[in-house]
Amino acid sequence: MKNPFTYSNFATGPSFCNRTKEQRDLLDFIMASQNVLLYSHRRTGKSSLIKKVFQNIKEQKLDTGTVYIDLYCTTSEKEFITRAFQQLSALESNTDKLLGLLKSSINKLSFQISIDPVTNSPAIAPSFKAADESLILKNLMELLEKFSEKRKIVIAFDEFQEVAKYANADSFEKQLRSYVQQHSNICYIFCGSQQHLLTEMFKSQKKAFYQQAASFPLKEIETRHYIPWMEKLFKDGNLTIEKNNLKQIVEQFKNHPMYIQLFCFFLWKELQQNPWSEETLNKIERSMIEQKHLEYQTLWDTLSINQKKTLKLILFNDGQNLFSAEALIDVNIKTASIVTRCLKSLSEKEILIKNGKYIIQDIFFKKWLALNI
Ligand SMILES: Nc1ncnc2c1ncn2[C@@H]1O[C@H](COP(=O)(O)OP(=O)(O)OP(=O)(O)O)[C@@H](O)[C@H]1O
Ligand SMILES: [Mg+2]
Repeated sequence: MKNPFTYSNFATGPSFCNRTKEQRDLLDFIMASQNVLLYSHRRTGKSSLIKKVFQNIKEQKLDTGTVYIDLYCTTSEKEFITRAFQQLSALESNTDKLLGLLKSSINKLSFQISIDPVTNSPAIAPSFKAADESLILKNLMELLEKFSEKRKIVIAFDEFQEVAKYANADSFEKQLRSYVQQHSNICYIFCGSQQHLLTEMFKSQKKAFYQQAASFPLKEIETRHYIPWMEKLFKDGNLTIEKNNLKQIVEQFKNHPMYIQLFCFFLWKELQQNPWSEETLNKIERSMIEQKHLEYQTLWDTLSINQKKTLKLILFNDGQNLFSAEALIDVNIKTASIVTRCLKSLSEKEILIKNGKYIIQDIFFKKWLALNI
């Protein structure tokens, strides 16, 4: 039997655990055409949740069009628009109909349409030569509105925080908001992980998207949901593992979806060879840290000397009381202001999160640090 746990990409099918309430809540927002800000720390399962709900919409044959636009790595308004156009075939897969719609609703704009050889769906690419970006954005948004006249649609902008990094972010956000506000039959899901950026975009009175979406923070999956999910998948593979060991795994990885999925992937392989023993957890964990050695070494090398010292400070003091003279002397940092600066930059890099105390976000990086520094 194929390993049901998967650690690359999104959790789908049997590798998707529970989230029943979250699926229901997100669908309610979609059905009410209420815009949503879906956010969490890295790798908590936001994209997987969106994909799952979109899948449900298709399976239940609800008359709602779904568009998923991944903004990861986009660096400008132009790339934003291009990505959005590329995904429009999700609303109309018939090339002739799509072409007809484009011709009837797009003006002063030329575009190319080609067939994606993998998906066999039409892909639109606007030409930026003759028109300026705001005109192309206008065309895009009017086209979306046109689609929404026939049926409800939901558009997910994943990694939406990227927009805040574009050179002319402020004016772009303003333009975008003005369209979003007019689209009463469209639910926009703004999804992202860099909380300081997203919070600034939606919670600061100065910003265009201030209070434009319902807040939807995504939490870790609860232990009571993990246990039956894991139990079933191991049982389906004729592999034996006790409930209390499953609980131990969930606790070890603090209920974090990605780490638990990853650990179970390796545990599945391990249990094919050896039964669970007291050593199993540590053995797999060690090999997972070893696998990540190069990645963490590269990350460590990109940090400044004071950032490295600050990470040591956090590790030695469990993220608390970081400004005491004693703690600073211990890691050889001269002033508290250096710590303040480094805490800020490490948080911006998403290496640290603040939750009462400072936490090294990647559990394995923390373990790697403990072993290597
Ligand atoms: N419901 C779930 N059940 C089991 N595992 C999950 C679930 N959701 C996510 N995962 C695990 O977590 C990993 C990350 O999921 P996903 O990419 O959806 O998170 P994300 O919050 O969008 O991450 P990022 O912040 O990088 O965009 C997946 O590869 C999968 O292993
Ligand atoms: Mg994601």
